[in-house]
Amino acid sequence: MPLPNEFIEQVRDANEITSVISSYTSLKRAGRDSVCLCPFHSEKTASCHIYADTQSFYCFGCGAGGDVINFIRLIEHLDYIESIKFLAQRANIPMPEDSRDKTAEAKQKMLEINRQAARFYRDVLLSDKGAPGRQYLLQRGLSENTIRKYGLGFAPNSWDTLKSFMLSKGYTEQELLDAALLAAKRPQNGQQGGERLHTYDKFRNRVMFPIIDRRGNIIGFGGRTLEADAPAKYLNSDETLVFHKRSSLFSLNFAKNTREKFLILCEGYMDVISLNQAGFDNAIATLGTAITPEQARLMRQYCEEVVISYDSDGAGQKATMKAINLLGEAGVDARVLQMTGAKDPDEYVKKYGADGFRLLLEKSGGAISFELKKLTVGLDMDTPEGKASYLKKAVGLLASINDKIDRMVYINDTAKLCGLSAGEIEKAVEERRRINYYSAKKAETRELINPTKKKGSDYMPTSQLTAREKAQRGVIAFMIHSPDLLPKTEKRISLEDFPDEFCRIIYQTVTDRIKNGQNVDLSSLGNEFSAQELGKITGIIQENNLLPYQKERLDEYIKVLEEHRDKYGGKDPSELTDEEMLAYMEAIRKKKSGG
Ligand code: CTP
Ligand code: MN
Repeated sequence: MPLPNEFIEQVRDANEITSVISSYTSLKRAGRDSVCLCPFHSEKTASCHIYADTQSFYCFGCGAGGDVINFIRLIEHLDYIESIKFLAQRANIPMPEDSRDKTAEAKQKMLEINRQAARFYRDVLLSDKGAPGRQYLLQRGLSENTIRKYGLGFAPNSWDTLKSFMLSKGYTEQELLDAALLAAKRPQNGQQGGERLHTYDKFRNRVMFPIIDRRGNIIGFGGRTLEADAPAKYLNSDETLVFHKRSSLFSLNFAKNTREKFLILCEGYMDVISLNQAGFDNAIATLGTAITPEQARLMRQYCEEVVISYDSDGAGQKATMKAINLLGEAGVDARVLQMTGAKDPDEYVKKYGADGFRLLLEKSGGAISFELKKLTVGLDMDTPEGKASYLKKAVGLLASINDKIDRMVYINDTAKLCGLSAGEIEKAVEERRRINYYSAKKAETRELINPTKKKGSDYMPTSQLTAREKAQRGVIAFMIHSPDLLPKTEKRISLEDFPDEFCRIIYQTVTDRIKNGQNVDLSSLGNEFSAQELGKITGIIQENNLLPYQKERLDEYIKVLEEHRDKYGGKDPSELTDEEMLAYMEAIRKKKSGG
């Protein structure tokens, strides 16, 4: 059941695009428009533009674009209808009857199930049955207040306490399985019950940590065992309709409101909670997995800098390298907090207090000193061989520091470490920079002669488009801008004049819609194209909006398309046989010399 056009327009009008985008990332004004770091790819300079007059956005870096609905579609990972619902809710507009959509409903239900389950676990923790859990949490130093703040709970040591409670509330076994609160086992052969599944509580004898997204929904759980020899110390919900570990962060619901400019990235739930109790409301953690690019970008939406505070063991240090790289790619400055005397932040604040941890934060160094220190691992720095192989690696790293002062600071550190003079190291570093510079120049020249498309991006600067490509895109933009020009246009060109497949599809869709009396603005096209395709269409519109929509311009485009048809018989020049090509070249030559 499609949503009525008037409703979609009402929703779009009620959600001004600049204000919607500004709640996800910070914007800089540029005249009437705004720019921001693109939330859909990693970058350090803002190439995502938000256009107030057309109520659209377009990223010149990755080609993402569209109207406010498409923005929500991309950033919230929703489908077209869900995005409209999301925005309707944001603007307090009730949905029209009969527009209910299965997935959205199932998601709502699952969130409600999670809320009920969290309440159940919490009530158990506070009841007699929760004594072991309560004792455990208090013994780990959490206050009643902190336990309440995080909504912590307890899953009793039983196979079906949650299951029977939830069934009594009217939820079905399947719904609880889908929400990953129950686990299932097929009955053994020969047993009664045929193909029926046997289901039981997934979390047993565990302290429960609800995982809450930035909108306050409980999307999943982490459970810590109370048993010393349990096979898994922590157990997390499986991926569900609402739980996506790759793109969620524990405690972001609190950290997003912090007054600090930086986030503290930890490994574990307990680290985050202990830090919070000690007054660091900007601590977050990944959900039992290594950091992902999605999480790095999510962090960038809320801060300029991340202090990586992983465990002091080998695994933690290795994970630190990965985090530095991913955060760097996402355009976030990374600092690394180094701890001695405790294995993780949780232990550290308990031992040395909030002030102790604050000192560590202040001392935490940039990614470079961490990496320089890492290079010594496995080397005996007391031997000349050790120093030599250290220096070989360090020079490359030092040469990559662009700021001269920073470079000198680190060259000095390295000199001290190796017992060499800073001047000597500097010479080697500058030599390496010269080599790097020339090879970069060479690559640049090659790129100029023979441009390759940016990897992973569909964006092509307009200047690199051929006249024919520009013409196809121009005609499309004109049809979207002024549908009343279609009849005249159609008299002169047809689908065959669009050799580019995507252009042909857009042209066909747009012209069909116009003939059916349907709208062809970005929002209406959202239903027919994917979020990525809509980005490309926005690119087409955007490049054409730079020029006035005068009939003469459309005429030029049509002429280019006609000319190509006459010249090459409607074929793409690359499809011509050698003979055909020769014939056309001969014809052109004649035309030119004949006047
Ligand atoms: N983790 C997990 N599964 C495990 C072990 C750990 O998912 N079997 C995840 C959890 O998210 C945990 C994080 O990795 O919070 C850090 O693990 P670890 O350092 O082992 O735990 P601590 O935070 O030190 O836990 P605790 O203090 O409760 O022992
Ligand atoms: Mn710990």
